[in-house]
Amino acid sequence: MKLLFVAAFALFVLSTFDKADSSAYDKIVSHSRIRARNEGPNVCAIQQVMGGKKKYFSTCRNWHLGTICGKKATVLYECCPGYMKLEGMRGCPAVAPIDNVYNTLGLVKATSTQKYSEVSKLKGEIEGSGSFTFFAPSNEAWEDLDEETRNALVSNVNIELYNALHYHMVNKRFLTKDLKNGMTVTSMYNDLGLLINHYSNGVVTVNCARIIHGNQVATNGVVHVIDRVISSVGNTIQDIIEVNDDLTTLHDMAQNAGLLEKLGQPGHYTLFAPTNEAFDTLGGDALERFQSDKKVLNALLKFHLLDSVQCSEAIMSGNTYETMEGSNIVIGCDGLSLTVNGIKMVNKKDIVTTNGVIHIIDRVLLPNSAKELMELMDGPVSTFSDMVSELGLSSAMQSDAEYTLLAPLNSVFTTEVMSIDQRILKTILENHIIKNKISLSELYNGQRLETIGGKFLRVFIYRTAVCIENSCLIRGSKEGSNGALHLTKTLLRPAEKTLFQILKENGSFKIFLSLVDAAGLNDLLKGEGDFTLFAPSDKAFASLSKTDIDLLKSDKNALRTMLLYHFTPSIFIGGGLETGATNLIKTFQGSNLKVKLANNTMLVNSVQVPEADKMASNGVVHFVNHFLYPEDIPVGSQELQMLFRRLITYMQIKYIPGYRYTEIPLTFLKRIVTRVVEEDPQVTKVTRVIESQPSLTKVTRVIESQPSLTKVTRVIEGQPTITKVTRVVQGGRQAAQRN
Ligand SMILES: *[C@@H]1O[C@H](CO)[C@@H](O)[C@H](O)[C@H]1NC(C)=O
Ligand SMILES: *[C@@H]1O[C@H](CO)[C@@H](O)[C@H](O)[C@H]1NC(C)=O
Repeated sequence: MKLLFVAAFALFVLSTFDKADSSAYDKIVSHSRIRARNEGPNVCAIQQVMGGKKKYFSTCRNWHLGTICGKKATVLYECCPGYMKLEGMRGCPAVAPIDNVYNTLGLVKATSTQKYSEVSKLKGEIEGSGSFTFFAPSNEAWEDLDEETRNALVSNVNIELYNALHYHMVNKRFLTKDLKNGMTVTSMYNDLGLLINHYSNGVVTVNCARIIHGNQVATNGVVHVIDRVISSVGNTIQDIIEVNDDLTTLHDMAQNAGLLEKLGQPGHYTLFAPTNEAFDTLGGDALERFQSDKKVLNALLKFHLLDSVQCSEAIMSGNTYETMEGSNIVIGCDGLSLTVNGIKMVNKKDIVTTNGVIHIIDRVLLPNSAKELMELMDGPVSTFSDMVSELGLSSAMQSDAEYTLLAPLNSVFTTEVMSIDQRILKTILENHIIKNKISLSELYNGQRLETIGGKFLRVFIYRTAVCIENSCLIRGSKEGSNGALHLTKTLLRPAEKTLFQILKENGSFKIFLSLVDAAGLNDLLKGEGDFTLFAPSDKAFASLSKTDIDLLKSDKNALRTMLLYHFTPSIFIGGGLETGATNLIKTFQGSNLKVKLANNTMLVNSVQVPEADKMASNGVVHFVNHFLYPEDIPVGSQELQMLFRRLITYMQIKYIPGYRYTEIPLTFLKRIVTRVVEEDPQVTKVTRVIESQPSLTKVTRVIESQPSLTKVTRVIEGQPTITKVTRVVQGGRQAAQRN
């Protein structure tokens, strides 16, 4: 009884001393205890991989999945470390008697270690006074040790075995909470270091051997049972690479990249080391490409390096890790195999060095930054990739230049698209290839991107979307060594025509066009700008007679109010709208349109938009079959009210007798006159902006060599009148500008 009390007291003191910085191991044990609380006091729930002996205190994730490394795990209830069962009582009410380290080895069933301690004359030492930490290999660990090594130890118990056991010991007491991640503790064999890792999932390792039963306190120290026999470590990662015949390619590459030395310096690395064979499977061309570009080589190698030590025993399920290249890999496990990005590729795991751990893999991990543009395209955009090759576009791209691909998903290439004449399709796809490498973060609203087809694409940035012309980007952008890749859901159709030309050539917008003409708003359709137009087709006016149309045209203010409600001052693409939400878009008339994206179709003021996103050089047009009307504007005459009852059936318009439409100043209209005059050698660019009240003059003057072009731009806005005169005289193709 007295002994029991002492032990309980010792445990109490040791475990409560610094509760404040409770370690991951302690947390996971206490979770296990909570999970097993129905089984009685001091019982811990433990997961055991089915068909194997491995047991773990589980993380929340493993517990809920019911698996360890993807394999089904059964739950066992065992006494928590330090406790014992008592005959006829629930749970584990007894605290194990506290004894010296030698006897404690027996208590935790590390009987092989106990036996070896005896034969090697270590017994006396660990029975006597002192304070030791013994990382004691379990009986299975000794069985798993290769025979040659074991025989060597057992045949020379006084030196080899004695030294080996001393390497498992520290002459100081370290509980798991004292074993901090990344620390090196000094063993009792030649002061050689032991590499400690304490992971957030509660796993604690010593030279990558896992503590499977921790904190068994002894009168003269503590015993932690570990799952393998560890051997001394004197080499760095660099040393291992230099002597391993399977890693000569890696060695040469690391040397060329200037990384080899770094791997010889102190640190905490994990290296996934591809074998020579793994590099060979890439082919000579690829190898040559990597070797010839130092930046790419560096990225490739750093993609195999982590700035932390990941021992295989610490991996209980897949987790994402940032590589030193910057992008992530997933390290996981499948049964007993370690996996990278879900693939079993590890031939040999846990080669422990003084500055980290090496896992040898049978394939090369390729980061996007080491891939060429065409190699970035995988499954979801494989059709685009094929088309680019087949139509000769990939060979047209210069090897020393950079590009950006706007790759539509495979679903875009319907039979309809695939049956387009090859030459036309080629032209379409040329406009999916942008000169220069432009990453997602480099795109900005109003940017213009030149394609190899010679077209300029406009960039639109919305709150939740980035669109290039009618194509909005979806997740999955990548950057390769010679370019960037962005994915889209639609075929990109760059603007060819003005809003006016689109409506005119379609032929079913005659009435709308005649109304716009009557309202004097043609310049909105024909001039420069970035407008969105919801254009009502002739169908919208089917219920109106010629007299009705004339009535609409008779009041200019009324007509402008109605028509300008169909125009907005910036470009809104269907895909740029926030799905589900109602997007309020202010019109030139002043009231908002309510635009919504539902079931992949656009709705404006609850009216369907059958065809959206027709790109124009001065905006975008969405076709509707209804006339739109601002709900906050009443109608003032009965005549017009009768007309509206037929024209606008989807809503009611308020009638306020005598209401008159107000005049809307057309300040947004730009009438542009461009005159080109040939002149003499001398480049002059003069910009003169004259505003009435207060007047402002801005003069830009650029003088350069070579002939010959004058461009006069005149912008006249209504009320107050602004006249802007731009005079450009420039030489050759270089348009320089200085302010
Ligand atoms: C013309 O517009 C109508 C909608 O009013 C649309 O259904 C039709 O497809 C368009 N025609 C062309 C050639 O774009
Ligand atoms: C989407 O379509 C389904 C069926 O076609 C319909 O039941 C649903 O109401 C639609 N959702 C919206 C937001 O219009």
